[in-house]
Amino acid sequence: MSDSALPPPERRNFYGRTHGKTLRASHKDYLANDLEPLRLKGVTGAENPARTPLDLSLTGGRPLWLEVGFGGGEHLVHMAAGNPQVHLIGAEPFVNGIAMLLGKIRAAAVTNLSLHPGDVRDLFDVLPDASVSRVFLNYPDPWPKARHHRRRFVTPGYLLPLARVTASGAEFRVATDIPDYVRQALEEIPPAGFALERQAGQGAAWEDWPSTRYEQKALREGRSPHYLTFSRL
Ligand SMILES: C[S@@+](CC[C@H](N)C(=O)[O-])C[C@H]1O[C@@H](n2cnc3c(N)ncnc32)[C@H](O)[C@@H]1O
Repeated sequence: MSDSALPPPERRNFYGRTHGKTLRASHKDYLANDLEPLRLKGVTGAENPARTPLDLSLTGGRPLWLEVGFGGGEHLVHMAAGNPQVHLIGAEPFVNGIAMLLGKIRAAAVTNLSLHPGDVRDLFDVLPDASVSRVFLNYPDPWPKARHHRRRFVTPGYLLPLARVTASGAEFRVATDIPDYVRQALEEIPPAGFALERQAGQGAAWEDWPSTRYEQKALREGRSPHYLTFSRL
């Protein structure tokens, strides 16, 4: 599969980037050979116009964890390698990030992982109710301008579908370096059906936190991480 053969954009507006700088030969190779076997089928409107819920038998009955916007994939592969008893799904529309993840999957030889190379909202449409037991949202796009705050993940258009697909007691972890994102997360996530369990700052991340590319960039640029943990009611 070449990068131009990624699923076409769906009906929703997506304001982020789907393509970056020219892909290296190795990245083209990963996309051509490794993506299709890992890609969840029946997520896009083109493949599943009736939006029939996914058959999750590929998880083998293991708990299902979801990472939204995995970027370069370092956190997703770390979690898959450290938790062979779970199955992880990562959603990310940025093709350069998908290629980076595929390279890391080859290197780590993890097999308990599937991908949706697109908008997580398309995945929310077709995940069965209460099927996900942990969710990671690491350094979501900040959309700093006030008129763009409604594009943030921590808004009802994302949070209500997330609430539907998460099981009672599911953990929802949010990492961000933007104080105003923390404000909005604390305002908007609880009404969607989650309780705040923990709020921590720099040096107090989750025990199994490997950091991410965006966190490293934030630290280099003098911004401080915030780590929020919610549980689905
Ligand atoms: C600031 S980057 C952080 C990447 C990574 N999590 C990290 O910490 O390094 C935010 C990522 O979220 C992805 N993203 C934005 N909207 C998304 C959506 N609707 N579904 C899935 N991923 C999305 C972007 O493509 C981008 O890669």
